[in-house]
Amino acid sequence: MTRHKANDFSSFWMPFTPNRDFAADPRLIVAADGMYYTSHDGRKIMDATAGLWCVNAGHNAPRVTEAVKRQVETLDFAPHFNFGTPQAFDLATRLAGLFPAGLDHVFFTNSGSESVDTALKIALHYHRMRGDASRTRLIGRERGYHGTGFGGISVGGIVNNRKHFGGMLTGVDHLRHTHDPERNAFTRGCPEHGADRAEDLERLCALHDPSTIAAVIVEPMAGSTGVLLPPRGYLERLREICDRHGILLIFDEVITAFGRLGHASAAEHFGVTPDIITTAKGLTNGVVPMGAVIVDERIYASAMERADTPIELFHGYTYSAHPLAVAAATAALDTYASDDLFARARSLAPTWEAAVHSLRGLPHVIDLRNLGLVGAIELAPRPGAPGKRAWEAMTRAWEAGLMLRVTGDIIALSPPFIISEAEIETLFSRLADILRTID
Ligand SMILES: Cc1ncc(COP(=O)(O)O)c(C=O)c1O
Repeated sequence: MTRHKANDFSSFWMPFTPNRDFAADPRLIVAADGMYYTSHDGRKIMDATAGLWCVNAGHNAPRVTEAVKRQVETLDFAPHFNFGTPQAFDLATRLAGLFPAGLDHVFFTNSGSESVDTALKIALHYHRMRGDASRTRLIGRERGYHGTGFGGISVGGIVNNRKHFGGMLTGVDHLRHTHDPERNAFTRGCPEHGADRAEDLERLCALHDPSTIAAVIVEPMAGSTGVLLPPRGYLERLREICDRHGILLIFDEVITAFGRLGHASAAEHFGVTPDIITTAKGLTNGVVPMGAVIVDERIYASAMERADTPIELFHGYTYSAHPLAVAAATAALDTYASDDLFARARSLAPTWEAAVHSLRGLPHVIDLRNLGLVGAIELAPRPGAPGKRAWEAMTRAWEAGLMLRVTGDIIALSPPFIISEAEIETLFSRLADILRTID
């Protein structure tokens, strides 16, 4: 006898969702193609968020769909512990070519969270291999989001991600975040003020002694905490301070890699090269879960030359370089290249910027931010009810045929790069209508 009940909303414990409210007002998706989802009640919903910042080439990108279908019929699974698939090596070589020179070695994971924890472990491993085992401290940043593993929530700087769990890593400290609406509100692109916040790293070096610090991890552009853009010169300054003190710099590019800012990576966009880059999401166009950590030559060499065990790095996942993920990633990279989608994101950016800033003056809008194909609309919180106003905008948008992402009172937009100028216009006129009607 089956115990199954159709649409028992309590069986699936939903991630990062107010589960108790969802059943009363479910937003269910049944199909997707190009820029649009289809809702369970048959409505077309424009995807203004590329899913969760991942479907950069749009839904049902033909090469990716075909590649995954072909792969599952040919080789459904193969382990990469002690065995390998030719395609995984090819993909790694190709990824190395896509990221800045020197970042030439790739470790495959299945998500952004796994990429972050992998990168932190590789950083600690690197220092140990070099006989510098006192470098154990990890530095993150307030309002940083680095996924949900214990490493990621420890270096991350979001109180709600930590407060119910305890058990953070010890020996972690944080830079202040760079968000400064008083001086930078309504800036187009990266803000002018705040590069001096990078000096926090010098302060932490003075406090802890730099010889105890293994790595600093930051998102070059923080997305999940509401699109916080790096002040001009900030990332360069972080790089200089890391170099001075022998600290590894990790860029968490889980949302910025694969074209979001108009280049393969934010590192390329900003002209600042870290020692390690974490990726996921757009790597496979979101079609099969996969992450990749791209590391500098010196780090790889330290393991290959100095490890005192046959396995140089005791780390890996059953699904590292899963054949379906490799097929999806290879086809996603093919799609990005053949359709010139990073250049398309770059060329749409000025239209996008103008559209974001056209919302200035609408009720409750206290800041607008943009970079590449990313936009943020920050609303004044309702007195005593932070987050409610943006939440209402999100639910009304769903009714009006638009998928938005909200964090607190910030609406974040990150459409697939295939969005047309006409669709940008539609998106912002629907959003403007919604902003005019919420109280
Ligand atoms: C910068 C960054 N790091 C890590 C993650 C975690 O990725 P995942 O949800 O795939 O574990 C995210 C997810 O949004 C992210 O934006």
